[in-house]
Amino acid sequence: MKGLIGILLATVLGTSQPVRGAQAPEATGLAFAVPPPTSNGGQAWKDSHSRALKLLAEMTLQEKISMVTGQRGPCAANSESIERLGIPRMCFQDGPAGVRPALGHTQFPSGITTAATWDVELIYNRSVALAQEFYDMGVHIALGMTTGGPLGRSPYGGRNWEGWYADPYGTGVASFYGTKGFIDVGMQSCAKHYTVYEQETFRNPFNFTEPYSVYKASEQVPISSNVDDKTNHEVYLWSFAEAVRAGTTHVMCAYNSINGTHACANSESNNLHLKGELNFQGALISDWGGTWGTEGFVMGGLDLNLPGLGYGNILGNFYDQELYQMVLNGTIPESRLDDMVVRVLVPLFASGQYDKPIPSTVINSVGAANWPEPAQYRNVQKRSTVELIRKISADGTILLKNTGGLPLKAPKNIAIIGQDAGPNLLGIQGCGKLFRDCDIWNNNGTLSLGGGSGYAWPNNLITPLEAIQAKALETQALVQFVLNNTATNAIDLTITGRALPMGQPDVCLVFAERYVRENMDRNDLSLNIGEWTHSEDIILQTAAKCNNTIVVLHIPGPVIMEAWIDNPNITAVVAPLLPGEQTGPGLVDVLWGHVSPSAKLPFTIAKAEKDYPPNTISYDISVTPQADFTEKLKIDYRWFDSYNITPRFEFGFGLSYSTFAYSEIKSDPTEVPDSTSVQKTNESFVGQQDGQSIYDMVLTITAEITNTGRWTAAEVVQLYVSFPTAENQPPNVLRGFTKLKNMKPDETRTASFPIRRKDVMVWDVVVQKWRYPAEQTVTFRVGSSSRKLPLSLTHRFCH
Ligand code: BGC
Repeated sequence: MKGLIGILLATVLGTSQPVRGAQAPEATGLAFAVPPPTSNGGQAWKDSHSRALKLLAEMTLQEKISMVTGQRGPCAANSESIERLGIPRMCFQDGPAGVRPALGHTQFPSGITTAATWDVELIYNRSVALAQEFYDMGVHIALGMTTGGPLGRSPYGGRNWEGWYADPYGTGVASFYGTKGFIDVGMQSCAKHYTVYEQETFRNPFNFTEPYSVYKASEQVPISSNVDDKTNHEVYLWSFAEAVRAGTTHVMCAYNSINGTHACANSESNNLHLKGELNFQGALISDWGGTWGTEGFVMGGLDLNLPGLGYGNILGNFYDQELYQMVLNGTIPESRLDDMVVRVLVPLFASGQYDKPIPSTVINSVGAANWPEPAQYRNVQKRSTVELIRKISADGTILLKNTGGLPLKAPKNIAIIGQDAGPNLLGIQGCGKLFRDCDIWNNNGTLSLGGGSGYAWPNNLITPLEAIQAKALETQALVQFVLNNTATNAIDLTITGRALPMGQPDVCLVFAERYVRENMDRNDLSLNIGEWTHSEDIILQTAAKCNNTIVVLHIPGPVIMEAWIDNPNITAVVAPLLPGEQTGPGLVDVLWGHVSPSAKLPFTIAKAEKDYPPNTISYDISVTPQADFTEKLKIDYRWFDSYNITPRFEFGFGLSYSTFAYSEIKSDPTEVPDSTSVQKTNESFVGQQDGQSIYDMVLTITAEITNTGRWTAAEVVQLYVSFPTAENQPPNVLRGFTKLKNMKPDETRTASFPIRRKDVMVWDVVVQKWRYPAEQTVTFRVGSSSRKLPLSLTHRFCH
């Protein structure tokens, strides 16, 4: 029994739970030096803000308190309803790849698979489809996207797969378009987890059933992510700025502490950065169990304490009556409470959900066991969504190696090896109702998503085995399979052809996986997990005897491949990562060449674990665990580039069935004022004049790309910036990408990169503003990956 499930069941069964001590270290003496800014609605929500103020004027003090403390109800969290004022009970529900826990909706491709498409149109369309399903299931606030917490500082991170690129700019683009998709369909969205939330280990020591628990509940404080101001601005805050600019209505503060203060009570992070610099106008909500007190959190910027009274109050008795007393006795000004309420109401108006009620909810979370709404099923999946996610699966499948194995050449005898190709033997709920918390003894079937609150049940998961069988029916091919990774004899019989008079298979498809979930970080980057998957073993066994072995990798991040990647019998390797419920059809599209692969890696795959920055998960046992972000700006590819370490596959790498040539880099200094920001941030820069924004476009870089191969294919073109040495930046940082789609053989197209001021600026910790680099000079490099950058151009900014 693990994690939240343990707590929830214990509550339902009436077992007594330790109470989170208000005297836990750090809960006292909280510094809240920066006062919480008051909202004004920003440029997008002015009307909603006035309407919220009018409603607020009608509320009693008790009603205001109940609006900022999560209430009991059917969803993961619920806000108070005030019928006389027309305020509905709002439903907050996970997660980033589908509604959880309920049935009848889509299990979308993970963030990293979608990121691997490098296609902003798909990123946006995925959010639109996802948001629509939340709406149709009766959810007011979707607890997604994962907009840079975690960003992927550590390759071991248990939740990296919920997010996007191990890079601030890439994740920033995804956060912007992804958030916009939610907002455009009238869904309230939540950017999470704010911020520097880069490890699961010691994230929430209140929950003593979590795997890393050592001390009793509440004896230990959460891990403190210790990060300097420059790194925070240039790496971790960047993508949250994009989510805010796109109009996210909510931001969820993380479990961890930041430089010694709980994220949800950190006035520097919440009041100075989020509500000040980024000018966030919505509600800051706590992660479940991220609140450890009342006064310090209210004044540290936390608006809504969730789940509050939900889950029988087991995550702490904060806000609620304590807040009521504090407002009455003047400890907390009523004006602060008023702003908290307004920040909850503004998104309700702005999304349109106040004026037009959303459908009734079908959710009935386990935490609301006595809630009288049993329904958890409503089929909301549209045919167009199934097509969309099949496309994302195919376009997010990275071709890592190809010595001629792909596309398949009409094989007549196909062997499929690996449990990861087939279904879960215990059915759709075989890994538990809430979290895909799998039992290791079971054959859990194909890995289409990681576990934890980011998991979502599929509506109709089509496994690789089923999709390949359907394809083989069309092509009249024989399909043999072994779905037991430890059945070495059966595997041997199949790959050597001794099982059948037909002889050796034309192709052996080996399916390898690496499972991970929220609440745990990976201990290593291997494909064999103890007695579990033996994924590396089956690759080695198959490649030893089958001279056309193709490896398929369902992985949540990097794995080390050195034991087999150069094996000449391995003729191709593809990585769909975690592709969601259309995993099989998406894969077939790539294997049979219905589409040319066009995906590229959103993280770096190293040759050895020691090649990554050291100690990126802090396992040191202490009552005050610390994670020092000593690699600073040099996460992922920036580390490899800085120290000249050759990776196995670099960030941005991915093969195609076609080939491309790059030529003619040019710049056009026409400036275009920012018209993309839904909400304007207050981020400022040195020399800023009235009316200028850091998001104004100051330059366009273009390059010519030619399809030199024989396939119609897409190419992801990437732009990196090199700052002058004086700035002490990594050699190259991603600052643009574009996907040229459906390029015909011999076709040449222009790749165009709009460069905004922020893209060519650095954060100056002394003046606390962005500024151009030394000599106002930067070099732009354009190419097909972070290490293949054939074109370059140096530009000097004259203002
Ligand atoms: C996770 C959040 C999630 C929340 C509600 C927490 O444990 O960190 O991402 O939204 O639970 O399920």
